[in-house]
Amino acid sequence: MKAIRLLSGIVILLTVLVALLGGLGSGLARVGVHVNAQSLDRIHIHGPLMIGGFLGTLICLERAVALASRYRWSMLVPVMNTAGTIMLLFMSDAMLSRSLLTLGSLGLVLLFGLMLWLHPSRDVAIMASGALCWLFGNVLWLNGHPIYQAVHLWTAFLVLTIVGERLELSRVRRLTRRSEQSLMLAAAVYLVGVLITVFNLDWGVPLLGIGAILMSAWLLRYDIARRTIHQSGLPRYIAACLLLGYGWLGFGGAAAVWKGAIFAGPDYSLVLHAFLLGFVFSMIFGHAPIILPALTGVQLRFAPMFYVHLALLHVTLAYRMYGNLAGDLAARQRGGLLNAITILLFLAVTAITVFRSNTGQQPARAEAN
Ligand code: HEM
Repeated sequence: MKAIRLLSGIVILLTVLVALLGGLGSGLARVGVHVNAQSLDRIHIHGPLMIGGFLGTLICLERAVALASRYRWSMLVPVMNTAGTIMLLFMSDAMLSRSLLTLGSLGLVLLFGLMLWLHPSRDVAIMASGALCWLFGNVLWLNGHPIYQAVHLWTAFLVLTIVGERLELSRVRRLTRRSEQSLMLAAAVYLVGVLITVFNLDWGVPLLGIGAILMSAWLLRYDIARRTIHQSGLPRYIAACLLLGYGWLGFGGAAAVWKGAIFAGPDYSLVLHAFLLGFVFSMIFGHAPIILPALTGVQLRFAPMFYVHLALLHVTLAYRMYGNLAGDLAARQRGGLLNAITILLFLAVTAITVFRSNTGQQPARAEAN
């Protein structure tokens, strides 16, 4: 039994990694940088691979692990999502992969339902609404709707998961009832905008943009990162990731208000990647030193070189955004390539640091959020 659990854990993590690499390859092919002939074939699965395959599986795994000691069946959820991701990688965009990923998102909704039943709270409610968005987006995708109609629901899945997690951690600051209500209001504006995109992109995109700006302002004002940025080592690094990410959330919101309905091309990329790379990947860079040890049991000691990939992410993304805004294809392509290289660098630095942290002196476990 233990061997099966270990094997499924390895398969899930390997699939997450391959989905990320496949997502990067297909994203580059989509911007016109051809990694290989296969990546060109898979242009259309870039979004589903990144959101459902890579991040969806990770989030399912994180939630299932937290519940697995009492509810063993919860591990079926990341397993289902992994199966859908493998199908997506091998069979490209077949109905089977769409169905399995939709079942994975349904499973995540059930896990959040269970969490809400066990410990009802506003932060879990926000995360649960994110999971519902993912499920709704997947149902549209399963029924053959174009991705530009589902993509804001998918993005909301990630944005609301992160906002809910930050609210959970910001409780350390003893928020007033009013400040919590103001975040709920911002999240509600965003959510209503996202839901409207399914029927009307002209109205929905600007409204979700206003919600994103409000959430960004709230996070910049109330997140504990404002305090921990004055500390040193890992807490300061995480705070830098968070504060920069909140900046991108606000930027993406402003771009959404400005551009309105988006379907494809530079404006589409501008808004989506401000949220998905600027905000979401900043959070991944910041949370990896905590989540990886929690999920796998390995140690991960903070190293100052973490700041290299953090700085590169923001500089190269700003360059890519310039390419999108100026209609400069070469800058978009170079920026996209540099974004992908930055993510590979992050993976390499994380792997090296894990190796060093577990083979060298026993590191002191860092306290941070
Ligand atoms: C790091 C390098 C990346 C590159 C080069 C890249 C490239 C692209 C391009 C060129 C598009 C299409 C925009 C257009 O219509 O012109 C796109 C769309 C998209 N990207 Fe990325 N991307 C990257 C990272 C990401 C990440 C990290 C995520 C998610 C976490 C993501 C999610 C999406 C989604 C959901 C779409 C919409 C897909 C669709 O409409 O089919 N991308 N990307």
